[in-house]
Formats: sequence, structure tokens, C-alpha cells
Amino acid sequence: MENIVAIILAAGEGTRMKSSLPKVLHPVGGRPMLGYVLDLVKAVGIKRVMVVIGHQSERIKKYLSKNITTLKQDKLLGTADAVSRTKRLLSGFKGDVLVLYGDVPLIKKETLKELISRHRSNRSSCTLLSATLYSPSELGRIIRNDRNQIIKIIEEQDASCRQKMINEVNAGVYCFRSIDLFEALKEVKPSLHKKEFYLTDVIEILTTTGRRVDAISTAEPEEVIGINSRADLARVEKVLRERSLSKFLSEGVTILDPSTTYIDEEVEIGRDTTIYPNTVIERDVKIGKNCSLGPFCRIRSGVRLKDNVKVGNFVELNRTTIDKFSQVKHLTYLGDAKIGKEVNIGAGTITANYNGFTKNRTLIQNGALIGSGTILVAPVKVGRKAITGAGAVITKGKDVPPGTVVVGVPAKVLKKRR
Ligand code: UD1
Ligand code: MG
Repeated sequence: MENIVAIILAAGEGTRMKSSLPKVLHPVGGRPMLGYVLDLVKAVGIKRVMVVIGHQSERIKKYLSKNITTLKQDKLLGTADAVSRTKRLLSGFKGDVLVLYGDVPLIKKETLKELISRHRSNRSSCTLLSATLYSPSELGRIIRNDRNQIIKIIEEQDASCRQKMINEVNAGVYCFRSIDLFEALKEVKPSLHKKEFYLTDVIEILTTTGRRVDAISTAEPEEVIGINSRADLARVEKVLRERSLSKFLSEGVTILDPSTTYIDEEVEIGRDTTIYPNTVIERDVKIGKNCSLGPFCRIRSGVRLKDNVKVGNFVELNRTTIDKFSQVKHLTYLGDAKIGKEVNIGAGTITANYNGFTKNRTLIQNGALIGSGTILVAPVKVGRKAITGAGAVITKGKDVPPGTVVVGVPAKVLKKRR
């Protein structure tokens, strides 16, 4: 996208988080909230991105990639002051300036694209994103005149009781005509209660000088959640989880109880797989078609399940591959294991993959039957169609030959399998 720059505000301390970590670095959905805003501007094709930093600036700088310009706000005097830090760099720039807050991570790229395109087709001075919320809490309210035109934004602390009744709120996403923005910023005065310079005051300055300010409204109120407190963080976490689950549901995966199912990013799940309640699937996992998982199982990173695999209750899998039609149905831990086709893992089987120093591999070949309560001390291999008796302990390096039955502690060959 040409002739547009993005400014992301990330200098604030985030007092309401009560944390030693700067607010915008708080993880949500497994990564810092600021990451979502950076991805958003990238996704709409904005090449020039500036981030205003202040509180614990070095820590935030470390998180940002090198091609991003950072500007330091020495005193945290408010969002208008933060935007003013970019003034020198943008002097002479006549395009559009997108302003986003680092604590508003759920904005969708379609919404932002729509905002920019509306801004350009209407030739507005400013176009902002609003939403109508049942409970607007601490967000700035959009004040309109009787012709429904926006006249200003009023912050919660400065709002009268009547203004607090307004349900249309400011999401904190704005597209400005650069020249108008920087001219208006000069006029911003300290706010009534907090004595900060509010970016939102720019709106009234623009409208009283006859400039056009428009809003587009999102129909999805979750999009505009700003994270100011731990409670907001939990709300965003929930939305991210719902977004990820709805993607799997739309792709043909059955999830019996979305409210107790946790699936991270970078997970692939094939059609007609069923996920029972209380299942956790962490990042970097691939699951095939027609599988069944849970209830109560944890699938950790590096797991690969081929089609028609069953993983039952109280099973933990870690860096493990399981081939077609195999079953691990109860109370089992498999770590660093490779399981062949049509293998049955009995209840309570454990791979002892870690000896305190190194992680070691277990290989179980096609058609093997692992008896209940077997312990496999890695590195170890169980051959094709071998059987381990209940409670067998297969010691390190004592591979089970194909087609044999082994029993006992330590396990010894009992007979050849018929
Ligand atoms: C702000 C808006 C409010 C809007 C809401 C949306 C203002 C005055 N108010 O309120 O209308 O409804 O966001 O979530 O803009 N920051 C700086 N420097 C500062 C102060 C803040 O960089 O001096 C950054 C913060 O790091 C944060 C963002 O600006 O990422 C917004 O600041 P925050 O204090 O969270 O504003 P809100 O009270 O949420
Ligand atoms: Mg905020």
C-alpha cells in the first residue's frame, strides 16, 4: 500500500496491569499483544512502520525487528504527545497516517482495509473505527450532533453522566490525512482530569475547523477490546481461542465442548476428527483425518498423528509420531516415540525417554501390542508384531525382536508369537 505510514503507540507503562512487564509485551494466545498489531499492519501491506516506545523501551526494542523505526517518548504525556514524536520524521509527508495502539490486538485486516479505503474515497481528514458496545466500560465515547456527524470523542474520566450512557466507542484505530493531523496536534491542550495530551482531542479540533471526520463501525465488538487490565487480557485470550476453534469447526473438525478445548496456532487437523472435552493441543502439531482425541489429553509440540489414530483419556504425547490405525487409549505418556501402524498401546504405558541428561527415542513397529503398564526405557525398539506383557519393563537398548512375546522385569522373551 502506497503513500501511507503506520504509527503504533507502545510507550505506556500499563499501570492497570500491575506488572513489571511492559503492557504491550504481555503474552496473549502465546505471544506478545504488540505482535498482533505488527502483523496487522504488515497484512494490509503497509511498508513504513514506526513504533513509539518509552517505558522499558529497550525491552520493547529488542522484540521489534530491525526494519521498524522506533521513536522515544521520554515523558509519558499522553497519546497525542506520543504521536507528536513522529512529527520530525514525517515533515513534508503528504499521505495518510494510520495510528494504532499496541494494546488493541484483535482488529482484523479486512476491517483496517475497509477503514483505509473509506478514508480515501471520502477524502476525509480522519476516519476512525467505532463499535457499539452493550457495556462500553472505560473506552472513549463518540459524540455526534443531531445530523449524526461526529463532533468529538470524550474520555470516560471527563464524560458527564449522560455522555457515559453513549454506547458508541472509540476503538483507537485512526486513519488521518498527515498534514491535518500534525496541524491539529499543535492545538491539543492537557485533559481536564489526567492532565494528559489526548489524541482523541484532535477529533474536535478537526471538526471545529470544518474538516471531515468519519467513522466506520465494526459489527464484531470483540475486535475493539483494548487491554488495560488482566481482566481484559483474559477476555482477549478467550476471543483468540474462539477464533482458532471456529476455524477448525469450519474445516470439518468436531469439537464437542469448545469451552474446554485449547488449540494453539500452527496446528493442522484433518476432517472428521473428533475432539472430546478438556483437550489441549499445543503449537506445531499435525493431526490427520478420522482421528479421535480425548477427553482429557495433552498433545504437545512436535506430535504427528496420521489418519484414524485414537488418543484417549489422560494421555500425554510429546514429540511423537503415530501411524495409521494405532490406538493409545488410556493413561499413557509417549515422548520422543515413533509408533507404527495398527499398534495398540495398553493402559498406563510409559516411555522413560529422559535419563536426566538426554532425551532418547522409542521405536514401536507396525502391529505391536504393548501390554498395560509397560515401561519402555529409551533408547529402545519393539519389533513388528511383538507383544509386551502387562507390567513389563523393557530396559535400555534391549530391543524386543519382531514377533516375540516378552514379559517381566527386566523383560525377557517368553515365546515366539504364533
Ligand atoms: C485509549 C483512547 C480511548 C480508546 C481506547 C481504546 C486516548 C486518550 N484514549 O484509551 O479513547 O477508547 O484507547 O482502547 O487515546 N501510550 C503511549 N504514550 C502515552 C500514553 C499511552 O505510547 O503517553 C500508548 C499505550 O502504550 C497504549 C496506547 O497508547 O498502547 C493507548 O493508551 P492507554 O493508556 O491504554 O489508553 P486507553 O485508556 O486505553
Ligand atoms: Mg488501552
